[in-house]
Amino acid sequence: IPVDPFDLVIFGGTGDLARRKIFPALFRRFVAGQIEGDVRLIGAARSEMDRAAYRAMVRAAIAEFGGEEARRKKDLAAFLDLLDYVMVDARGTAGWSDLAGKMRKDRIRAFYFSVAPALFGDLAKRLHKHGMADAASRIVVEKPFGRDLETARDLNRVLARHFEERQIYRIDHYLGKETVQNLMAIRFGNVLFEPLWNSQYVDHIQITVAESVGVGGRGDYYDKSGAMRDMVQNHMMQLLCLIAMEPPAKFDPDAVRDEKLKVIRALDPVKGADVVRGQYEAQEDKPDYRVQVDNPESTTESFVALKVHISNWRWAGTPFYLRTGKRLRERASEIAVVFKDAPHSIFGPEAGRHRNILTIKLQPNEGIELGVTIKEPGPGGMRLIDVPLDMTFAEALGPEEADFPDAYERLIMDVIRGNQTLFMRGDEVEAAWAWTDPVIAEWEDEGAAPLPYASGSSGPDDALMLMHRDGRRWREIR
Ligand code: BG6
Repeated sequence: IPVDPFDLVIFGGTGDLARRKIFPALFRRFVAGQIEGDVRLIGAARSEMDRAAYRAMVRAAIAEFGGEEARRKKDLAAFLDLLDYVMVDARGTAGWSDLAGKMRKDRIRAFYFSVAPALFGDLAKRLHKHGMADAASRIVVEKPFGRDLETARDLNRVLARHFEERQIYRIDHYLGKETVQNLMAIRFGNVLFEPLWNSQYVDHIQITVAESVGVGGRGDYYDKSGAMRDMVQNHMMQLLCLIAMEPPAKFDPDAVRDEKLKVIRALDPVKGADVVRGQYEAQEDKPDYRVQVDNPESTTESFVALKVHISNWRWAGTPFYLRTGKRLRERASEIAVVFKDAPHSIFGPEAGRHRNILTIKLQPNEGIELGVTIKEPGPGGMRLIDVPLDMTFAEALGPEEADFPDAYERLIMDVIRGNQTLFMRGDEVEAAWAWTDPVIAEWEDEGAAPLPYASGSSGPDDALMLMHRDGRRWREIR
């Protein structure tokens, strides 16, 4: 269904995110027929550039990052026609009246702040001063939303001076992933799981987001963040919330976000002994972390594993284990819900220990697997084995249906539609920082270096110990 006509201004319109994600996503929605005719996409940045040069830049970006669709020459030409460019100085006066002149009345106006957070306030102020923002306008902001509670609060305050919460779309691109949204469908669309979804039946939950890539060219940013700020505070936290939250009464923005917030607020503080940090070593031709970020003394972590409890009725006593890292064996993200043993085994001790495990695979092969215990075939008596009831979405739905849109496609269209369900609310972000801050502060106080781990491994051995000492183990990253 096409969205209503809109004008979208992308500040930072020549930047990496615009080229890699925003324009390719807009283009794919255009090809899909969701963006039609009367739309204007206006890049705004500091460089002097005319419209033709800007279009050429976006054309090249789509050719590089747009996938299959980029070959559709006619569509691409029509899409590029929607583009315009204005040179603006975020902190000065240049370009602002030009930009204002291009915005039309009676259109949804959205402003994408794909710029350093330090500029959010400058942009918001100038949008108002030049009469571009009205009560129906929306702004989109990216992570990192602050680097701790204090800076996040400051950003929220700055934005709140000019915009209401219902106008602010804070992106966590994990929420735009089809399979992440599917977590809610699996939990609340089936009657099967929810009665068991609590500490009475669930032994523990594991959330893994493993990446095989290193920090690449983002060393500068990454070395000031580390895995805790880059992944745990936002993406992992969102996964944890969706897995652990109470059923919201409706699938509506505040109902969902209220429930997520309650989870974050119920998280226990994490003790030092329950966290493991790691930093990757070199591998053949690939440099180690410190070389890659060009900081020989760096004590930033590229891996973190931790155990946390949620102190509420549903989850008291069921630990959640989280781990994420770069340069690990495979790119694999999954959530495993490990159920408790049957209360009594009628088959005696020789039947061994068997547990049902529900695994929700987020990427790369999206699907669900349920480990079920059955009798081992054959005449050898009652021996039990575990077999998977296994379903990749691509097999179940067909490759076409399972060709999921990129997270940004969904999220940008939600901005235009005015649906905030998959965006983070200000209080949620603050609560997440309030939980991560003390963990990071402890590391900073100690000044301790993270543990080295081999590239291509599953992280430092201590991360395995984190589970072993509780009589549990991580699922293999594969
Ligand atoms: C980003 C992080 O938010 O998410 C990156 O800054 C990380 O460090 C990326 O690589 C992972 O996203 P995805 O979609 O590839 O799992």
